[in-house]
Amino acid sequence: MAYDSYRDFINALDAAGELIRIAQLVATELEITEIADREMKKPGGGKALLFEQPTVNGVVSPFPVAINTLGSWKRMAMSMGAETVDEVANELGALMKAKPPTSLREAMKLLSLALDLRHAKPKTVKSGSCKDVIQKFDAPASAKSWPPAPDWQKGTSLNPPTLANLPILKCWPLDGGRFITLPCVVTRDPDTGERNLGMYRIQIYDDKTTGMHWQLQKVAARHGRRYYERGERMPVAIFIGGDPMFPFAATAPMPDGLDEFLLAGYLRKKSVEMIKCETNDLEVPANADFVIEGYIDPTEPLRDEGPFGDHTGYYTLPEPYPVFHITAITHRKDAVYPATIVGIPPMEDFYIGGASVKLFLPIFKMNFPEIVDIALPAEGVFHNLVFVSIKKTYPMQAYKIMHGLWGMGQMMFTKFIVVVDADVNVHNTSEVLFHLTANTDPQRDSIFTKGPSDVLDHATSEIAVGSKMGFDATKKIPGEGFKRAWPPLIKMDEAVKAKVESILNTKV
Ligand SMILES: Cc1cc2nc3c(=O)[nH]c(=O)nc-3n(C[C@H](O)[C@H](O)[C@H](O)COP(=O)(O)O)c2cc1C
Repeated sequence: MAYDSYRDFINALDAAGELIRIAQLVATELEITEIADREMKKPGGGKALLFEQPTVNGVVSPFPVAINTLGSWKRMAMSMGAETVDEVANELGALMKAKPPTSLREAMKLLSLALDLRHAKPKTVKSGSCKDVIQKFDAPASAKSWPPAPDWQKGTSLNPPTLANLPILKCWPLDGGRFITLPCVVTRDPDTGERNLGMYRIQIYDDKTTGMHWQLQKVAARHGRRYYERGERMPVAIFIGGDPMFPFAATAPMPDGLDEFLLAGYLRKKSVEMIKCETNDLEVPANADFVIEGYIDPTEPLRDEGPFGDHTGYYTLPEPYPVFHITAITHRKDAVYPATIVGIPPMEDFYIGGASVKLFLPIFKMNFPEIVDIALPAEGVFHNLVFVSIKKTYPMQAYKIMHGLWGMGQMMFTKFIVVVDADVNVHNTSEVLFHLTANTDPQRDSIFTKGPSDVLDHATSEIAVGSKMGFDATKKIPGEGFKRAWPPLIKMDEAVKAKVESILNTKV
């Protein structure tokens, strides 16, 4: 199902009893976080919240703030127009099973074909609601001689829509400022012209500049490096809102070169209508709520970004990142500002990341047919900890899976992998821990290796490099160095269970 705007999605959540409207004045500085954090910590992720009168420096913003809109399995499914996320994953899996691939490259090609099948290709249109209000700022000849437009300097007025007037959150007390937390960032590979959509948080430095926190291993960072090498100014477009599938697709670990708008179009069952920006030639969804256009100047030094209360549960400390210069802001008249907060889990991003795992499970299974299921428990804040169940048929198969996963896209960031047998429910952390501790001789059944790490990981001795640990918690079979008989797991007879059921259900 395609939503016309974020407001459209909010209305659907409201009708389904999934939204709480908050009419009181609530500050975008810390107060929204405190309310949203309490909601996100409720069992199952709580409700979505709409702050109808968010305040920015004490002034009511003309735009409401929506938060936790994707923070439950039900809302995640609703954003895809489905009853459950599993239903969508099964459909995508079935499409891809048409001709099982023999390699990762082939699997990715097949994914692209599968997405295409639904006529999911984005199409270009000439008009769209994201241009209801257009505020352009003269593009400077060079970044050094930026002449701020007169309106731009007003800053505190509610009109025009400068960054200072958007209800952008300051999430946590030690944050380095305000951050756009659900930004969809569009960039282009200068060599191939291929587009990328990624979600990289945006720190507001002032009315005309922001940070651009694309991490070392992300696709936009690779695009950026090419512009630096070519010495060319890099056009960038950030948009917020529109269909909820846009922020989801921006976070999905799609392979470099595969357009995330194809995935968004597939999931919303309607091609994404794209419209050209006002001040560069990138395209953004015509129904986005806000668009912030601009560029990165490769001659300009990097600038410290952060600190930021991150999804690791800790603050990430300042690190140098490119500076983004704004040339235009456009928006819908009835725009809603969607946001999220990250922090000590569980948070909204658990469901966003979890939905990605469900959708991409068929691809994992195609490369590793022995995989039954994969879970990234909330405590592992995305990729720190991965549980995977397999149908083991030959010795050391668990290690093959560990190495395979560490070599697949963003699974490279995983610090700990625990492999269990097919009958273990990986979504039940207690069950996995029971099998981990019961079925392993730690030295024999573990492996250490090295690799790239998440740049947000504060525990590694050096940024972006670290070690990984894998545990084989499967039942040991001949060839795995285990010389004794493996005992059976304690289980009651089915007949006894049935008899006891009937005894307990019989009234005397
Ligand atoms: C709420 C949220 C915020 C995120 N912020 C960042 C960020 O600031 N920088 C970053 O590199 N990745 C961030 N990510 C993860 C990326 O969006 C994710 O790795 C995505 O697949 C990157 O796209 P790419 O592979 O096209 O670069 C965030 C994810 C979520 C859910």
